[in-house]
Amino acid sequence: MITPTIRSERLTLDALLPADGDAIYRYCQDVEVQRWVHIPSPYTRPDAQYFVTAYAADAATSTALTLWAIRDESGSLLGVIELRHEPLASATVGYWLGKEHRGQSIMSEALATLMEYAFDPLGLALDRVHWESFIGNTASAIVARRAGFHFEGTMRQSVVHRDRRLDTWHASLLRGDDREIQDGWPL
Ligand SMILES: CC(C)(COP(=O)(O)OP(=O)(O)OC[C@H]1O[C@@H](n2cnc3c(N)ncnc32)[C@H](O)[C@@H]1OP(=O)(O)O)[C@@H](O)C(=O)NCCC(=O)NCCS
Repeated sequence: MITPTIRSERLTLDALLPADGDAIYRYCQDVEVQRWVHIPSPYTRPDAQYFVTAYAADAATSTALTLWAIRDESGSLLGVIELRHEPLASATVGYWLGKEHRGQSIMSEALATLMEYAFDPLGLALDRVHWESFIGNTASAIVARRAGFHFEGTMRQSVVHRDRRLDTWHASLLRGDDREIQDGWPL
């Protein structure tokens, strides 16, 4: 899907550009991104080039994915957030930030802003957004909990990552949810 531009107090979410390749390459060297995100490891320059060209172009022409660059006021790339669309107005959210941009509530701001747009009938008009992470990803879970997601449970050994089978955490946000912080998270 063509990337709609969305703005919040500090951030602009817009299309990923070929010029973002160097930052993507640098950010994806980080052990936390490699630990928690399905990206190649080792992560090479051609991997970054593929991501900012073919992957981003495929996303723009497909109904299966919307991909946003997260940028600061100067236009610098801070990270990425995406929605993988599923049937009947639902989607799964995924996100990561460059190491030096973490711990400033940037992803909390990006996710809250994206959820407003995702459920807006004039935006993406979704009914349900799903969040998942490998078990133990506390930073990601804090972000989802802050956005009002309801924790739904752990799926045992449900994903293979770096040749290991891992449990996954799952949560969801529905259009009518009040966005208050919910109990029940294993944090
Ligand atoms: C997950 C991620 C996007 C969060 O982004 P962020 O902008 O740093 O998030 P926020 O600052 O809004 O909130 C993160 C919170 O988790 C806390 N936190 C981070 N790591 C933590 C840890 N290991 N244990 C406990 N708390 C942790 C931070 O202190 C922060 O809390 P605070 O705002 O109360 O201080 C970022 O950590 C990241 O890119 N991680 C690597 C990739 C990844 O895991 N992506 C998600 C895959 S599901």
